[in-house]
This record gives sequence, C-alpha cells and structure tokens, in this order.
Amino acid sequence: MNNKSDGKTVEKIQASGPAKSSITLKVNGVEKRLEVAPWTTLLDLLREYLDLTGTKKGCDHGQCGACTVLVDGRRVNSCLTLAIMKDGAEVVTIEGLAEGDALHPLQQAFIEHDAFQCGYCTPGQICSAVGLMNEGRAKTADEIRELMSGNICRCGAYPNILAAVQEVMLASAGRAKR
Ligand code: FES
Ligand code: FES
Repeated sequence: MNNKSDGKTVEKIQASGPAKSSITLKVNGVEKRLEVAPWTTLLDLLREYLDLTGTKKGCDHGQCGACTVLVDGRRVNSCLTLAIMKDGAEVVTIEGLAEGDALHPLQQAFIEHDAFQCGYCTPGQICSAVGLMNEGRAKTADEIRELMSGNICRCGAYPNILAAVQEVMLASAGRAKR
C-alpha cells in the first residue's frame, strides 16, 4: 500500500512473519505436538510453551550451561538449539529425571553433598552430569572437572558438585562390574 506524506510516496511494507512449523517432541516421556516459529529455541519452548521452568536461562549465549538438557541422551545447551532442528527427538529435562517419588541418584547425591547454594545452576549441572555419565569418558576427578567445565556455578559449589558426581559415577561403575 502507498501513502502520500509530505508530498513523498511512503511505501508501507506489511510485515508478515514466516509460517510456524509443526514439530513433535517427546518431552520427559510424553509426546508433544507444537507449532513453533523458526527462531524459537529449545530453551524458550520448554519454559514458555511447556511451563518446564526447571531449565534455567542464564546467559542465553552458550556460556553458562544453566540451560543444559538431554536430547536423545546427549547434553545440549538448549539456548543454542533451535526447536525445529530437534523435530522427532526425545528431550529430558530436570523435571523428567526422577521416577515417581524416587529422585535420580544424581539429584539425591546433590542433596547429600550440599552441592548447591542458590540452586540456579543446579538443573543444568545435574542434566550435564547425566549426559557425562552417558558419554562414559570421564574416569577421574580432573576429567569430571574438565568435562563439566561448561557448567558455571556462580556460588562456587564446585567441590561439592564434583563430590556428588564422582560418588554416583563410582557407584554406577561398581554396579557395572558386578
Ligand atoms: Fe544457555 Fe547460558 S543459558 S548456556
Ligand atoms: Fe548458585 Fe550454582 S548454586 S550458581
């Protein structure tokens, strides 16, 4: 549409955004069909569309790890992941780790080792540790520290986080040997 303004022709451009895409995700064991804009991150989808606010937005730039969730068993920064790229994937968030009333062993270990203060980084730390165990690469304390280094804790609870992760890792290695 053209409008006359001060003797000049002003062209009005109708901003019509790109169509939303329909995607299906299995989130914490439940299949969800969602209509999302192409730029919607997995983090925003979880928090804004599905009310799964356990996953935290820290930096929103891939720097802090607060938004870590598991996608097909692998840990990812959900703030850097477009939801439409994960169509058909299985997503597990902190809300999906417990089995009924039974906490995940890592959740239990974080409590027992007092591995948090404010708790803001904790969901990301725990999901990252689950992913770390799935990877099976970390064997020593140094390797745990290195491979968890993408998860920042501003409260500095690192020694306790390490102790919690190490305990669960050793227990699971012990079970695997039996
Ligand atoms: Fe995703 Fe910080 S919020 S890495
Ligand atoms: Fe506060 Fe980690 S417990 S940021």
